[in-house]
Amino acid sequence: MTTESMQYCIHTRNLNLWYGEFQALKNVNTDVKNGLITSLIGPSGCGKTTLLRCFNRINERFTYVRTEGKIVILGKNIYDPDVSLIELRKSVGMVFQRPNPVPISVYENILFGLRIHHPFGSFKKSELDDIVEKSLMEVGLWKDLKDRLKAKATSLQLEQQQKLCIARLLPLKPDVILMDEPCSALDIEGTRAIEELMYQLRGRYTIVIVTHNMAQARRISDECIFMLLGEMIEHARTEELFLNPRNPRTGEYIEGRYG
Ligand SMILES: Nc1ncnc2c1ncn2[C@@H]1O[C@H](COP(=O)(O)OP(=O)(O)OP(=O)(O)O)[C@@H](O)[C@H]1O
Ligand SMILES: [Mg+2]
Repeated sequence: MTTESMQYCIHTRNLNLWYGEFQALKNVNTDVKNGLITSLIGPSGCGKTTLLRCFNRINERFTYVRTEGKIVILGKNIYDPDVSLIELRKSVGMVFQRPNPVPISVYENILFGLRIHHPFGSFKKSELDDIVEKSLMEVGLWKDLKDRLKAKATSLQLEQQQKLCIARLLPLKPDVILMDEPCSALDIEGTRAIEELMYQLRGRYTIVIVTHNMAQARRISDECIFMLLGEMIEHARTEELFLNPRNPRTGEYIEGRYG
């Protein structure tokens, strides 16, 4: 691994993406640092979700998507022919706008990915119990749910469901957690809880979050990437981007002049 790829978790070069004829990402060059929280910000339709979904190659479920350029994650070009999409998606987990637990028990939700990725029966019950406990502990749900492991995950409060969606990534030992507006379905309390959790996970995982909420980006992220019409306009430390943006278009956006 080169020094560059060790410092940078995600490294894109000349990344272009088309949905059919429409170009949604234009020459995106960026370096997301290991262990930090990086926010993707910019007006609706600027390509935040598209960029996020490049990092686990989930855009490719649309047959009309074409991608060019390079994305290196932890030293490996994820477009190399020997890359396994299954391994990539274990290493780069994703959380969506609406919590989407599977309508089965809390316990089985945590083990859902593990059961898919590893042959059934290769873990002892006590090992599985440990994994569930550890994962719920890590997201701060253990105390509330330890007596409700058999409850249906979809019966939990939304905030708990979203935390569970983060917890179920953890048994797969991800390096990166992608979050696309993870608080948009939550109230103020739920939002605060998820933000606190992100902060606790910071350092152990590289977190990339899409947010429309400028105050949130400012509160939680170490660095911000401002996008406009498919281009990456500015990537800077959060404080710098908000207090002293280099590009006038960044300044206009954070002042609320458009978007
Ligand atoms: N599956 C798709 N097929 C065709 N075009 C798409 C698809 N997904 C997104 N687009 C287009 O690509 C552009 C970028 O969309 P994207 O969803 O990445 O933006 P975004 O910044 O996440 O927007 P928002 O803030 O509204 O979520 C938009 O013009 C959108 O209409
Ligand atoms: Mg989006």
